Amino acid sequence: MAFVLTPWQIPPTHPELTEQSVHLWRFPLDCHEPLESLLEEQELQRARRLRVPGKARAFITARARLRQILGSYLNLAPETLRFKYGPAGKPVLAGYSSDGLAFNLAHSGQWGLCAVTRGVEVGVDIERVDRQLDHEKLAAYFFSPSERNGLHAGDALRRRRLFFRIWTRKEAWLKGKGGGFSDPDQDIGPAHLEGCCTHDGTWWLRSFPVARHYLATLAVPQEFSLLQRWDCWHTPD
Ligand SMILES: CC(C)(COP(=O)(O)OP(=O)(O)OC[C@H]1O[C@@H](n2cnc3c(N)ncnc32)[C@H](O)[C@@H]1OP(=O)(O)O)[C@@H](O)C(=O)NCCC(=O)NCCS
Repeated sequence: MAFVLTPWQIPPTHPELTEQSVHLWRFPLDCHEPLESLLEEQELQRARRLRVPGKARAFITARARLRQILGSYLNLAPETLRFKYGPAGKPVLAGYSSDGLAFNLAHSGQWGLCAVTRGVEVGVDIERVDRQLDHEKLAAYFFSPSERNGLHAGDALRRRRLFFRIWTRKEAWLKGKGGGFSDPDQDIGPAHLEGCCTHDGTWWLRSFPVARHYLATLAVPQEFSLLQRWDCWHTPD
């Protein structure tokens, strides 16, 4: 199936989403708008428990953007949305007809991402490509032998890029399944190399840069032909 990845664009007020496409929204997290009034008390309490001010701000911004994004599909005010949580903490819409809308949120460094689908689950991960990170140590701990295979080839830059590609693919897939990190099936196999499918052929993965030094992967349990990217609250790269 031919795959189309659109450039980042300004979204319409009420975006239309078909079952064959995925919408991906990016937003900067270092935002100074007062967004607290969009969150519910439980979320504000969670923000207060985050002792590092930058982390609390990023959490508030991400939750507010999530609410604004979902509200634009559902034609509902962001503050009226309610979430419930899966056994491993994956948030989903609750409390009214969500019209088959599914979403997943991710944040890293200065950027947040929200993926939205209709009728199918979705997982997304974004990572800042941190040059200081001891990626070999993390790979030894988190990656399976088949995922580690190939990480030793090429120059340092290539190895680091491959590490983040595998990391975001693994996380997006695990987040799509929503099962958490005690999930016994955590090996994406050779999907981290050329292919876009997981080893059992049930999840489709697509990786791409989000901004300078940021890499993301999307995971959806069916082949999708269109990835439409929306950019509402833009700051220059
Ligand atoms: C819980 C987890 C989803 C958090 O991941 P993270 O990289 O810290 O954060 P991300 O930015 O990717 O995603 C966080 C968002 O995912 C959503 N989320 C939380 N639990 C989730 C779950 N079990 N499944 C899917 N989505 C989940 C939430 O919306 C959360 O954001 P919020 O708390 O602001 O609402 C999980 O990925 C984790 O614990 N990872 C730790 C790293 C690890 O063990 N990696 C091994 C594989 S390489």
